[in-house]
Amino acid sequence: MVFFSKSKNVVGLDIGSSAVKLVELKEKKGGAFSLVKLGLERLSPEAIVDGSIMDSSMVVETISKLNSEKAIKNSNYATSLSGHSVIIKKITLPAMSPEELSESIQWEAEQYIPFDINDVNLDYVPLTQPGSGDNIDVILVAVKKEKINDYTSVISQTGKVPVLVDVDAFAVQNAYETNYDVEDGKVLALVNIGASVTNVNVLSGGSSLFWRDITFGGNQYTDAIQRELSLSFDQAEELKRGHSVADYTIQQVIPILRRRASQDARLLHRDVGRRPRRRDRSRRRRLRGAQPRRHPAGQVRHPRVDHGPVPEDHGGRERVQSRGAG
Ligand SMILES: Nc1ncnc2c1ncn2[C@@H]1O[C@H](COP(=O)(O)OP(=O)(O)OP(=O)(O)O)[C@@H](O)[C@H]1O
Ligand SMILES: [Mg+2]
Repeated sequence: MVFFSKSKNVVGLDIGSSAVKLVELKEKKGGAFSLVKLGLERLSPEAIVDGSIMDSSMVVETISKLNSEKAIKNSNYATSLSGHSVIIKKITLPAMSPEELSESIQWEAEQYIPFDINDVNLDYVPLTQPGSGDNIDVILVAVKKEKINDYTSVISQTGKVPVLVDVDAFAVQNAYETNYDVEDGKVLALVNIGASVTNVNVLSGGSSLFWRDITFGGNQYTDAIQRELSLSFDQAEELKRGHSVADYTIQQVIPILRRRASQDARLLHRDVGRRPRRRDRSRRRRLRGAQPRRHPAGQVRHPRVDHGPVPEDHGGRERVQSRGAG
């Protein structure tokens, strides 16, 4: 099982394809957090491509630089993932006890996960209380072990301990819920625009209605500038950020960004704003009223895939424990 050895404070590390971001928070009395450390180091576009770490030494070097520049003493690191290797499914199962669910989830998951079940780490969160009906809704999260290993090993190589791996869309939801009052039934979309991936999580109050990772982001804007003005990627990136490059100014770049933005707005609308397919509609009906679980301290927990250094033996298969399962 995965538990924090001394303190439950962790350092959050976001290993993005354009930059590594680090944040250390301290929990204050009353559950609020104060910011202790904040850092960002840019990463060469060759280091991570399509969500895969292509040059791990470059990533390790960048994390180490952040660790030493920010003089991070805490060893416990949390990170999160998104993209093709992360599968999140909402499934409905016959009502059963938490123990029965824990025993059968691996078997149940096999039907829903498009990868060999031995190649993934699984976690799950029941959304409905056992005993509250004939069925229970469960969020199932499966992440390829290979992907988890790639991201956790770059952390380990800097001498830190990867104690937790979350899923981007839900990490954003946790951040939102920690910082804002969640109004029951209020529908809103959380959109996290990265360099290559945009995570969307549509909420109704504290419940996630649906989520999606869309493969577009800031890189497309840089690419458009690069193409139209025949520049290098780095030059285009600087121009996009409002810095002058050669004889170009941001004023010349704005029309290019506008054109790209209207294309992206259509893309986002197509992916998120469209009328849901029949399958999604029935899924949303099932979800109405479903709440994420709360752990004993009252903090909302969304599914996370913990990277357990000592996975429990479960019928000969490695399985991930859900930390703080409530
Ligand atoms: N000042 C700015 N103006 C415009 N765009 C910016 C600015 N600062 C950063 N960006 C863009 O934001 C994107 C980086 O965002 P973020 O750090 O969230 O991405 P990432 O986590 O590295 O990427 P991903 O998660 O997609 O792998 C880049 O495309 C970068 O060009
Ligand atoms: Mg990112």
